[in-house]
Amino acid sequence: MPIGKTFTTLTAEEAASLIPNGAMVAVGGFTPAGTPKAVPRALARRARELHQAGEAFQVKLLSGASTGAACDDELGRAEAVSWRAPYITSAPMRELANTGKLDFVDMHLSHVAQAVMEGFLGSIDFAVVEATEITRDGRVYLTTGIGNAPTFLQCAEKVIIELNAYHSPRLREMADILVLPPPPHRSSIPIHDPLDRIGRRYAEVDPTKVIGVVHTDEPDGGRRFAAPDEASLRIADHVAEFFLREIRSRRIPPEFLPLQSGVGNVCNAVLSGLASRQEFPRFKVYTEVLQDAMLDLIASGEAIGASATALTLTTEKLKFLYENLGDFADRIVLRPQEISNNPGIARLLGVIATNTAIEVDLYGHVNSTHIMGTQLMNGLGGSGDFERNAYLSVFMCPSTAKGGRISTIVPMCSHMDHSEHSVQVVVTEQGLADLRGLSPTARVPADHRELRAPGLPGRPVSLPGGRADGAHPPRPAALLRHAPQLPRARRHAARPGPVAVRAAPCGGDAIRARRRAQESTE
Ligand code: COA
Repeated sequence: MPIGKTFTTLTAEEAASLIPNGAMVAVGGFTPAGTPKAVPRALARRARELHQAGEAFQVKLLSGASTGAACDDELGRAEAVSWRAPYITSAPMRELANTGKLDFVDMHLSHVAQAVMEGFLGSIDFAVVEATEITRDGRVYLTTGIGNAPTFLQCAEKVIIELNAYHSPRLREMADILVLPPPPHRSSIPIHDPLDRIGRRYAEVDPTKVIGVVHTDEPDGGRRFAAPDEASLRIADHVAEFFLREIRSRRIPPEFLPLQSGVGNVCNAVLSGLASRQEFPRFKVYTEVLQDAMLDLIASGEAIGASATALTLTTEKLKFLYENLGDFADRIVLRPQEISNNPGIARLLGVIATNTAIEVDLYGHVNSTHIMGTQLMNGLGGSGDFERNAYLSVFMCPSTAKGGRISTIVPMCSHMDHSEHSVQVVVTEQGLADLRGLSPTARVPADHRELRAPGLPGRPVSLPGGRADGAHPPRPAALLRHAPQLPRARRHAARPGPVAVRAAPCGGDAIRARRRAQESTE
């Protein structure tokens, strides 16, 4: 006989009507994966009705990362959100942020759970979380995105569960859920391999906080990627060549290291590019979101398995996964984002991070978030969680944007998310710049040294078409001619110097032993 609370069934409208103006609402899921759908949609309808009646209605919205169209797009169009964190990809929400109608807080995604737990962001009034099941004693079996849901369930005052019948209840076989206690009560996280499991298959909630359950039956609606363009394919080629070279020169072990792959078309093209090289070893993945291309690699055996926080799949691929779940259950692990993006684990596993940039400057600083330094694109996401702590940190982007009118390689980034101290390799379709071991002077090609002046106080330099003294971003047309500089930096990197510099600090006994072992078998 089951003991515990039975839950009230609500319509989405009834659930939305319980959320007052000004409430902090935290939604489960990560990207469209596992994000609640019916309640946010009903909340947007309610906001529109209240706005038409002349009443104020806006909530603060917290999530794992971006959400689905039913959440960010609907709430954004209804102007129903006054404050938003930690990441968005929704065009309506972006427009609000860029027109001063929304306070957007761009956060490292691994930081959010702790910030919530410690009250940095204020109290969470409502958590709205999608699940396949909730038991009377408060076990919540999540769907395709774990994100911050386990923490939101623990910290929220009130909880609404969307029970989505579309999702396979067998998703729990992939879930590995652990909520870290707050400092100073933490011990090390025992993940030594991407596929290690250390937690439970469910999140937990105090059943008395659950004010209602809403029944839905709807896929996540993950977006389809465009086929890779010429530039992405060339970037993918450069990256694959580079990794193979690093393996041959034993700076990466022969079995490779866990790969983190960022969001977007370029990253998808790189994944497919790696898999198409026969000589490339089968690899494991320690990443944030598992997208279609990755599922294909796991299905074909080219990738051994993956750890992520979300299955951000198109409806077609999700169906394929559900039809073959037995084949994937022990090769995919879904974790809370505090663990999937944990900097300590990225460092311990030796993750190789591959992310996309909006612009890169001649020193190796990277802008991931702001077009021309002022217009928010999406946010930092998990790029900083990985790149700062990676074994090898690679940033990629086409060398121009907007049909060739804007150079993405600039003298000085108009906004900086990742500094020269942690960006190691930059790749465009024109080539690959290996910055490891290069001083700032060596990074800047000799005939562009004068461009360093903008960084030196009192020595502004005029560039054709705009000032580069930091007073305002140089105009794009002026920067276009600098794009072809990357291959030069690569030539610098080809010298033996940087390799020797690297070998000393990281060439421990284990690495030397590995090299000796390999040499003796060759
Ligand atoms: N100047 C002006 N516009 C630029 C630009 C630049 N330097 N670089 C890119 N853009 C524009 C593109 O033209 C495109 O515009 P459109 O939507 O109007 O076509 C848009 O920005 C997106 O660029 P696109 O080439 O389609 O990029 P993408 O889908 O590969 O995404 C990022 C690139 C950087 C926006 C994306 O990777 C991101 O948000 N990164 C930050 C978060 C992150 O790294 N997460 C992964 C962590 S695990």
